[in-house]
Amino acid sequence: MTPKTNGRGVQVEDTKICVVMVGLPARGKSYIAQRAQRYLTWLSIPAKTFNVGNYRRNDAPQPSADFFDNSNAEGERRRRAAAEAAFADMLGWFRQGGVIGIFDATNSTKDRRKWVMDMCTREGIEVLFVESKCDNEELIMANIRDVKTTSPDYQGQDPEAAALDFRNRIKHYEKVYKSIDEDGDESHYTYLKMMDVGSQVIINRIQDYLQSRVVYYLMNLHIRPRSVWLSRHGESMYNLSGRIGGDADLSPRGHQYASKLPELVRQSVGDDRPLTVWTSTLKRTIATARFLPANYNQLQWKALDELDAGVCDGMTYQEIKDVYPEDFVARDEDKYNYRYRGGESYRDVVIRLEPIIMELERSEDILIVTHQAILRCIYAYFMKKDQSLSPWMNVPLHCLIKLTPRAYGTDEERYQADIPAVSTWRGKGSTAKHEDPIPEANMSH
Ligand code: ADP
Ligand code: F6P
Ligand code: PEP
Repeated sequence: MTPKTNGRGVQVEDTKICVVMVGLPARGKSYIAQRAQRYLTWLSIPAKTFNVGNYRRNDAPQPSADFFDNSNAEGERRRRAAAEAAFADMLGWFRQGGVIGIFDATNSTKDRRKWVMDMCTREGIEVLFVESKCDNEELIMANIRDVKTTSPDYQGQDPEAAALDFRNRIKHYEKVYKSIDEDGDESHYTYLKMMDVGSQVIINRIQDYLQSRVVYYLMNLHIRPRSVWLSRHGESMYNLSGRIGGDADLSPRGHQYASKLPELVRQSVGDDRPLTVWTSTLKRTIATARFLPANYNQLQWKALDELDAGVCDGMTYQEIKDVYPEDFVARDEDKYNYRYRGGESYRDVVIRLEPIIMELERSEDILIVTHQAILRCIYAYFMKKDQSLSPWMNVPLHCLIKLTPRAYGTDEERYQADIPAVSTWRGKGSTAKHEDPIPEANMSH
């Protein structure tokens, strides 16, 4: 078979992988599933989660704990039907080109895992079991309060009663739960078993590159509270003249932003804890970060340099339109995929940013001072922005964005420096130097 290159930095030879979540309720399975889906989608790898609980809710919207007792035959039958319906939809999705389907259920018995394994094998789909195992009672209760009491399963119910019922639900599962390969008879399966939020990890029989990539990503996740701050550099001399790329100095207003940044950061952090600062290797981001406190560690990443405009580096959009009219049109038609002659596309940038995302997942509080296109790509990762839209987002200069990952999403706050700057946003077809952004092009949703 001829390997297909797909511009994702991955060679995919018709690979289909079913990631099968395993574990008792409230162990972070849906959290992990959603993170994996977001990461893969950001890399343009078609990925989708099939949550059995959502299917079961169509039939049993608010079941009490007893529904999950394995001696409750009616409950068992309906849960099985929900799993079958979710699985059937997942197969349909694979047939339409899906690459990584995530089967999000407890899959807590050997029988259920064998069923999934047999069904996938018949369809030529690889199976990667991902188990989250955790016995920390305090963490489980915190998880229940964090996400379960507000689940549609308990809508309109008292949160304390809901937490108690959910605890009882878990007790029913505990009676039949078998951790993967606990008895040594599942050693032929491919699996990742994460204990106590990754403090211990077992990896078994990983088969190919794509699987190892998913595994590596999941091993880097943590759940310690933290935020990520994003800022563009202060206004540059090139921004003033409408030129792209280059390695220009800051403008006088850009220097003002650099002076104001420490205060803006302090205000948004809320206490004295130091952040780690990442800049690009270009003068304008380093100069923007230079007044931040000395106890902030600073690191320069080549991967954070602005999108390489190749032969167009240093030109205005008008000059590009005059010299390379076809390129100008082609870029507007498909801005995400268009690669500058001798330079990069947004898709290329995402691939080079992958190590940054990996390192961000491992880290705690990070402040990134970078460039317009790079910030769009990082923002798209956290906020699940469609890749065809992200290159058009308006990211104003002189504004600090704080992103705080939560269980099922990311919170966003913005801090304006109130220092005027030109707009570097450009609408489709326009060559205007400093255009006013249209409201839909805003990053906020
Ligand atoms: P499940 O799908 O297993 O029922 P959820 O994903 O709904 O559980 O639970 C989300 C909660 O689990 C969040 O509060 C999140 O911080 C926490 N969590 C995420 N990953 C893990 C993990 N590996 N172990 C334990 N808890 C986790
Ligand atoms: O104009 C500032 C800038 O950072 C340029 O250096 C870069 O080429 C451009 O923005 C990227 O934005 P767009 O993809 O919208 O041209
Ligand atoms: C559910 O019904 O919420 C669920 C996850 O189902 P199961 O444990 O049967 O997979």
